[in-house]
Amino acid sequence: MHKKNHSDLPIAFTKEDFGQDFVWGISTSALQTEGSINIDGKGLSIWDEFTSKKNKIHNNDTHEVACDFYKDYRRDIELIKELGIPNFRFSFSWSRILPEGVGAINEKGLEFYHKVIDYCLELGIVPWITLYHWDLPLALEKKGGWTNRDIIHWFKEYVEVCVNAFKDKVKYWMVLNEPLGFTGAGYYLGVHAPGRKGFSNFLAAMHHAVLCQGIGFKTIKKIQPDAEVGSTFSGSYITPYSNSEKDKSAAKRIDALLNNCFLEPSLGLGYPIDEIPFLKKIKKYMHKGDEELMKADFDFIGIQNYTREVVKHSFFIPFLKAKLVPADKRKVYHTLMNWEVYPEAMYEMIKKYNGYKGIKKLIITENGASFPDELIGTLVDDKDRKHYLQLHMEQVLQAKQDGYSISGYFVWSLTDNFEWAEGYRQRFGMVYVDFKTQERIIKESGKWYRDFLGSYL
Ligand code: FCB
Repeated sequence: MHKKNHSDLPIAFTKEDFGQDFVWGISTSALQTEGSINIDGKGLSIWDEFTSKKNKIHNNDTHEVACDFYKDYRRDIELIKELGIPNFRFSFSWSRILPEGVGAINEKGLEFYHKVIDYCLELGIVPWITLYHWDLPLALEKKGGWTNRDIIHWFKEYVEVCVNAFKDKVKYWMVLNEPLGFTGAGYYLGVHAPGRKGFSNFLAAMHHAVLCQGIGFKTIKKIQPDAEVGSTFSGSYITPYSNSEKDKSAAKRIDALLNNCFLEPSLGLGYPIDEIPFLKKIKKYMHKGDEELMKADFDFIGIQNYTREVVKHSFFIPFLKAKLVPADKRKVYHTLMNWEVYPEAMYEMIKKYNGYKGIKKLIITENGASFPDELIGTLVDDKDRKHYLQLHMEQVLQAKQDGYSISGYFVWSLTDNFEWAEGYRQRFGMVYVDFKTQERIIKESGKWYRDFLGSYL
């Protein structure tokens, strides 16, 4: 990894600078933390199957135990309390609640999330629920998964079950987590579950995900009109590799694909077909009335920013004619994920999404970094992560002070966890986990966040 030399930053900002109403939080997801993948009536998810195949996941790691959150959720909620973090964003596992995706409800699944939410509330922590963070029930994938239009009915049923069960306890809902992530990596590149490839799978999955965003939003609001409903999107700042017209137009296409495609239809703007002409093939999957179904008058939009991407024209890449130039090739400072550390990207994304009239409120629902942490004695002195977080928060503040609207910031993640195809080698946590013993050690970045937040709880 290209190293950056930095000393401890003197922090020039305080929590108060962000204002009284600014929302501070931490994010996790069910699949990456819960473990217990087939007990108490849970059905299998696409990831449960994908990780059982050889060579799909780094080191053939599996999430069978992960952070053991299912068995000992109290331990991690107590850590959130200890760190003084007022908001906890986590997801429900669809197949824990509806083992077959639809039909019979697994009461034990609901009971688990009741216990988690009750414990959060008891400790004064506000739960923010993501309904779908990439773990589709396997039974539904067997019927085509996200490429089958019926998913709009399956998803509606799932949302109804969840919201009816938790409407008295949960105010904040997020419909999908990063739809580009699960459709792109899962149905186009095949590097995430369910491991399918190809352009038509991708477009079908994309359109159905966009429909589910709209339908999910409306379903929640119908059952719980006073809920605050959002959805979360990945947002990476895109710049061209050179000043050539070809690179500049390649960058525009990638920006539209990565940052606009899933959001704009919900705002009533349709798909960005002018920017990405090949996207017109998506019309094949559109039915009459879909434009309306896709719309969602979200109360907030979650943006998940980690880096920027540098884009070059490429004759060889089909359709897009563009490729990303990885950070190590550019010899820039980067994390263990090979994601460039480029804090200004945070500012640029806040600025970009402020440009959409239809967005009522913007929240950073994920930001964080994986570095090779070292446990020495009882200390994980993760200077790089602490520095990364401080620099990104500083950009959030700068954007706010420059008059852009930004209402919250959630760190990814509470504990080290199962990082999808990367397995356990990527550690994003503010809390170190020894996966053999399940011991937790608050990293220096976590202590810093705790001190920064002060006595919230
Ligand atoms: C985001 C995902 C999250 C985590 C981080 C590192 O794209 O939403 O689950 O994997 O990246």
